Amino acid sequence: MNITALLEQHRTEESRLNWQGTFKDYFDLVTAQPGLARLSHARVYDMIMARGCETRPNGDRAYKFFTDELFGIEKPLQQLVDYFASAASRLEVRKRILLLMGPVGGGKSSIVTLLKRGLEAYTRTEAGAAYAIAGCPMHEEPLHLVPDDLRPGLQREYGLYIEGDLCPSCRATVQDKYAGRVEDVLIEHVVFSEKNRLGIGTFTPSDPKSQDISELTGSIDLATIGTYGAESDPRAYRFDGELNVANRGLMEFIEMLKADEKFLYSLLTLSQEQNIKTGRFAMIYADEVIISHTNETEYINFVNNKRAEALHDRIIVIKVSYNLRVSDEVKIHEKLLKQAHLRNVHVAPGTLRVASTFAVLSRLEQSKKDGMSLMKKLKLYDGEEVEQFSQRDVKELQDECPREGMDGISPRYVINALSRTLARDGVTCVNPIDGLRALRDGLEQHPGLSRERRDELLNLIAETRREYDETAKKEVQKAFVYSFEESARTLLNNYLDNVEAFCSKTRLHDPITDEEVEPDEQLMHAIEEQIGVSENAKKAFREEILIRLSAVARRGQKFGYTSHERLREGIEKKLFADLRDVVKITTSTKTPDEDQLRRINDVVNRLVGEQGYCRICANELLKYVGTLLNR
Ligand SMILES: Nc1ncnc2c1ncn2[C@@H]1O[C@H](COP(=O)(O)OP(=O)(O)OP(=O)(O)O)[C@@H](O)[C@H]1O
Ligand SMILES: [Mg+2]
Ligand SMILES: [Zn+2]
Ligand SMILES: [Zn+2]
Repeated sequence: MNITALLEQHRTEESRLNWQGTFKDYFDLVTAQPGLARLSHARVYDMIMARGCETRPNGDRAYKFFTDELFGIEKPLQQLVDYFASAASRLEVRKRILLLMGPVGGGKSSIVTLLKRGLEAYTRTEAGAAYAIAGCPMHEEPLHLVPDDLRPGLQREYGLYIEGDLCPSCRATVQDKYAGRVEDVLIEHVVFSEKNRLGIGTFTPSDPKSQDISELTGSIDLATIGTYGAESDPRAYRFDGELNVANRGLMEFIEMLKADEKFLYSLLTLSQEQNIKTGRFAMIYADEVIISHTNETEYINFVNNKRAEALHDRIIVIKVSYNLRVSDEVKIHEKLLKQAHLRNVHVAPGTLRVASTFAVLSRLEQSKKDGMSLMKKLKLYDGEEVEQFSQRDVKELQDECPREGMDGISPRYVINALSRTLARDGVTCVNPIDGLRALRDGLEQHPGLSRERRDELLNLIAETRREYDETAKKEVQKAFVYSFEESARTLLNNYLDNVEAFCSKTRLHDPITDEEVEPDEQLMHAIEEQIGVSENAKKAFREEILIRLSAVARRGQKFGYTSHERLREGIEKKLFADLRDVVKITTSTKTPDEDQLRRINDVVNRLVGEQGYCRICANELLKYVGTLLNR
């Protein structure tokens, strides 16, 4: 570490951030880099795009700006970015208020927080830099100093688009302090900061009777009114409402539809006309992104409220429903657990997956399609293939239930339930069964759940448990096969050799006896019977395998035991069937002999060394599977 270099870098950075100059200096900067003067929506859009975007195989666009923090809600995020894209080109949509609508704990606040924190960081960078008239209570764009009649010329010459007029305070300062000499006005670099009330505001509705509009639009400063005589003197006014504060950046309006209508109309004027109306002054220009959130019930009331009609078409609604993909839900829980700073408790493999499975199941709606269960739907949504259905069916399933994802268990609920268990004294490891128990106990304390819904959820827990039982068995069986992959590969190659000979009606060469032998019908059958390939169907099945084999080879890839879904299943089941008795006896015996002890030890070691278990959950898993196999 070179401390001198670091300090020097720090100083350069500080001096860049503390830049001050005259309007003339700023003008040189902004003509060289017109982006400095972009409007709020464009700044947000550039900030998001600066981090990049990738297109997923299913066509979804994933914006890096969000993907480290938010999972499985690509659709609403795409809509959000699309909104900013149009608003950045100054299309009419920028004059609408953004409203995120969705269920509790679905990530609405997180989206807004990311945007706010993003702006704070972005305005510290060169690409996101912002400048303001020094001393302006609304840190306004310095180009407002340019008189109207000069603006078209500047736009033609430099491509500078100037919108908005000086605020009352700056107008007074330019006259009083600079005697109208605009070029001398002091300009400074500004960094948005919610804490410093610059560029980022938040409004929370409280009791409408006591809450005053001045919280939004600023107020008269009673202490100084005597000094300046008139209420309309800008020096006697505090431009400290949230709308003033958020000028050039973003204002979050929490639970907007809970607010009194008078607040909403204030917002409307601002978004429609880019003006804050305060009564004292004609109009104060402001440019900011307004983003708010609400739940579905309140939104429906709002839509049905005729008195609020004027507002309806001035709002752009983005539906933020729950994530419906288990693998993404696992990521959400991992993130939340990390944030929870729990003491060192081991979370056993599969625990978050089980919790996520339950959470996603609770959000799904039953399909009318024949043979479609919630569990199958869950797997399809997560990109897996299931019996009878494929990824091609996903779109239709989604269209069948447009409200899907607006109800159910939230990530917050899951984490609260898990945390309670994790934080319990003496707990050093939490496994999937503990997790399910915690989720179940949580339901008892969950307010506002009907008897019926609680029973439904309990059923889903039971279903999740059944699904986990299968996984647990597989996990243990895999650990029992010394090298599962290796055994599977050997069995596959053996099978393929025989199938090849069978289909081409040739014989196999036995390397040991050096004899030519008939294909081993017993071996092939042992695998095929596991997946119900009948005597009549075996020829077609084997030919299908060979066709797949050559197709894979033509693409220059290797045919592995996972290359054909049913064959994989057959091979796994065959390996497990061979083992079943060993596993059963070893895991459930109360008095293991030396051989069994060694075996158990090996398996535990493998679970710990390769699968992420600790000794506690590895042993519990074995015990659990032992009881399952003995049922
Ligand atoms: N899709 C998601 N990806 C990542 N984290 C998520 C997701 N959905 C929810 N979360 C996390 O769950 C927690 C609750 O979300 P958040 O507070 O943003 O929800 P909300 O929609 O604002 O809820 P409320 O209606 O209760 O205010 C947050 O910590 C958030 O990060
Ligand atoms: Mg919230
Ligand atoms: Zn000003
Ligand atoms: Zn453990």
